[in-house]
Amino acid sequence: MAAHTDTVDQPAPRPARTAVAHRLLMCRPQYFDVTYRINPWMNPHKPTDAGTALLQWEQLRELYLSLGHSVEVIEPLEGLPDMVFAANGATVVDGKVLGARFRHRERTAEGPAYLDWFAQGGFTELLWPEHINEGEGDYLRVGRRMLAGTGFRTDPRSHAEAQEFFGLPVTGLTLVDPDFYHLDTALAVLSPDEVMYYPAAFSPGSRAVLREMFPDAILARAQDAAVFGLNAFSDGLNVLLPQAATGLIAQLRERGFNPVGVSLGELLKAGGSVKCCTLTLS
Ligand code: ARG
Repeated sequence: MAAHTDTVDQPAPRPARTAVAHRLLMCRPQYFDVTYRINPWMNPHKPTDAGTALLQWEQLRELYLSLGHSVEVIEPLEGLPDMVFAANGATVVDGKVLGARFRHRERTAEGPAYLDWFAQGGFTELLWPEHINEGEGDYLRVGRRMLAGTGFRTDPRSHAEAQEFFGLPVTGLTLVDPDFYHLDTALAVLSPDEVMYYPAAFSPGSRAVLREMFPDAILARAQDAAVFGLNAFSDGLNVLLPQAATGLIAQLRERGFNPVGVSLGELLKAGGSVKCCTLTLS
C-alpha cells in the first residue's frame, strides 16, 4: 500500500528531448545599418559596424549548419537595411506561404522581395495578404496551432486571414510594451507544446490566455527579456538565444533543453536577434 502511494507521488519522468532538423531561410546583413527608427532599440545617431554584423550573422548560420539544419539565403537588397530580419519576410506553414505586408514604408519593399524568392523557389501556394502582417515576427506555430501578435505591427484582422489560409486555429495576443513590438521578442516556441515568454509584454487578457494554454511555461524575468533572450530558436532540444540571457539559459537547462548562447550585439542595435534573423521554412 505504502509502496503504491510512493509510486503515485513520483513526478512523471520527463521524456528525453530530441532535435528536429529544420529548413531555414536567412539574409546576409550586407547592407545592414540603422538609418531610421521604427522601434525603441534603433538609434540612427549611434554608429553601426556592418563588418561585425556580418561576422556575427555568419556565426549564427554556421551554428545552425553544425546542428544539422539546412540554411538557404535570399539575396539582400541595397537600401533595405532591415532585410537581414528574415523572420519578417513571410509565414510558412505546411509549404503554404503567407506574404508579409509591413507597417512602415521603410520596410514595405521587403514583402514582395521575399514573396518573389518563394515563387522562384518552387513554392506554389502563395498569398499576397490583404492586411498588414510582419511574418514570423508576429506568427509563431506551436504544434498544430498558431499564436499571433498584434498591438504594434500586425493588424488583428490579419489573424483571421491567416487562420483561413492555413486552416489552423490562430490565437491572437496583444503586445503592450513598445520594446517588445513583435511576438517573437516576447515569446519563443520551445517544442510542439511548450513556450517561454515575458508576461509584462502582454495585455492582462493575453497573459490570462497564455496561462490557460501553457500553465507550465517558462516565464522570463525582465533582465532576460531586456537582452532579447526570448528572441530564440528551438529545434526541440537545442535552444539558440542571446548569450546575455543567463537566467533563461539556466531555466532552459533545468527543463532538459540544451541552451546555446549566441552573440548578435550588432543586430540588436536594430532591435533584432536570433529568431528575427531566421525564417522557418519547414
Ligand atoms: N528593425 C526591425 C524592425 O523594427 C527589426 C525587426 C526584428 N524582427 C523580428 N522578427 N522581431 O522592424
